[in-house]
Amino acid sequence: MLNTRAANRQRAIYIAGASGIKPVIPFDVDLLATKAKARITPEAWAYIAGGAGLENTMASNRSAFDNWQIVPRMLRNVEQRDTSLDLFGHKMTVPFFLAPIGVLEMAHPEADLAVARAAALAQVPYVFSNQASVPMEQCAAVMDGAPHFFQLYWSKSNELVASFLQRAQANGSKGIVVTLDTTMLGWRTRDLDLAYLPFLRGMGIAQYTSDPVFQQMVDAAAKDAPTASPKVTLTAINTLIAASRRHPGSFWENLRTRRGLRAVQLFTQIYSRPNITWADLPFLREHTDLPIILKGILHPDDARKAMDYGVDAVYVSNHGGRQVDGSISAIEALPEVVQAIRDKIPVLFDSGVRGGADIFKALALGATAVGIGRPYTYALAIAGWRGVAELLENWVADFELTMGLAGCNNLAAIRAAGVRKV
Ligand code: GLV
Repeated sequence: MLNTRAANRQRAIYIAGASGIKPVIPFDVDLLATKAKARITPEAWAYIAGGAGLENTMASNRSAFDNWQIVPRMLRNVEQRDTSLDLFGHKMTVPFFLAPIGVLEMAHPEADLAVARAAALAQVPYVFSNQASVPMEQCAAVMDGAPHFFQLYWSKSNELVASFLQRAQANGSKGIVVTLDTTMLGWRTRDLDLAYLPFLRGMGIAQYTSDPVFQQMVDAAAKDAPTASPKVTLTAINTLIAASRRHPGSFWENLRTRRGLRAVQLFTQIYSRPNITWADLPFLREHTDLPIILKGILHPDDARKAMDYGVDAVYVSNHGGRQVDGSISAIEALPEVVQAIRDKIPVLFDSGVRGGADIFKALALGATAVGIGRPYTYALAIAGWRGVAELLENWVADFELTMGLAGCNNLAAIRAAGVRKV
């Protein structure tokens, strides 16, 4: 296949430059972050950019990529470059996807909807977050058949889990990405310093407030118990107003009945279940026919266990360093997981990916497909859906050129080439 996306992208950038038009989305990742930071509140920046503890996991997610180097090969005819792959029977045009990120309304008012539109345009699969700001049905509708997945947090309510699974299947999701590493929220120092958690203001809970099971639970809770009354301060009143405004339905009604606040309270009580074990996994299989992908796998024994339990894929990730500080970096964990899986099921990967070379390295180490996270959120903050679309075109081009210039004309060639450990 003659892949012209990279050449077209380069040409478009340089031709626009000749008319004095510069790209809106910086290519340099530090510049990208700086530009995004200037567009959003300090609280949004802390939530999006921050990680757990001393943020050493975040740092090693990046630095560990330097432990592997690409050794380019010459004279291999790379005129035809095929970046596509087949995942669960669906053709992906590139081996990367948009990893799930919650509370995107902190980056841009159009939030998940903007990302969904850009993903569909660039034909890059998108994993809808359980903590989205826009219900999955609305995002699926704008993707117009382009591939998307649903990321699940296992709630204390199995009925709610079943409802999420059913909705995901109904709206055409291609798989369920079950995040295992967030049975509790990590010790997020930047958020703690600001004493700010977006969910408490009714942000990032749209999958819940749009869910019939959750709505019934809010009704039931309203009958059973009064809302806890926090100390009446200006911030508490603002929180009540924010939660009422973001809740579906009439603002005044939400304020009067405190329904928005009740939804937030219920969410905090049920959003995660720290006591889940392997023995719970069959529940998912009983409630969905979609591929089940376990996210957060870092140990080869867990990878083997995942196969024993018949899941369809594992997903190597440390949640972008947001959960366990001092954790093994995701890229360091990847080779052993790949070895344990022995090509029996796909191995997805994310955490620390900042460009085409990182995608190449992860594929060379045996990943099937690679997730990108914070960078697209930064592009969203800078320029909405257009920003994300521009970033994706850049990443497509960067990856395709890295692959070709390394002497590989398809993904199998990347795997065969490998990377050199330094
Ligand atoms: C939630 O998924 C988070 O990482 O904040």
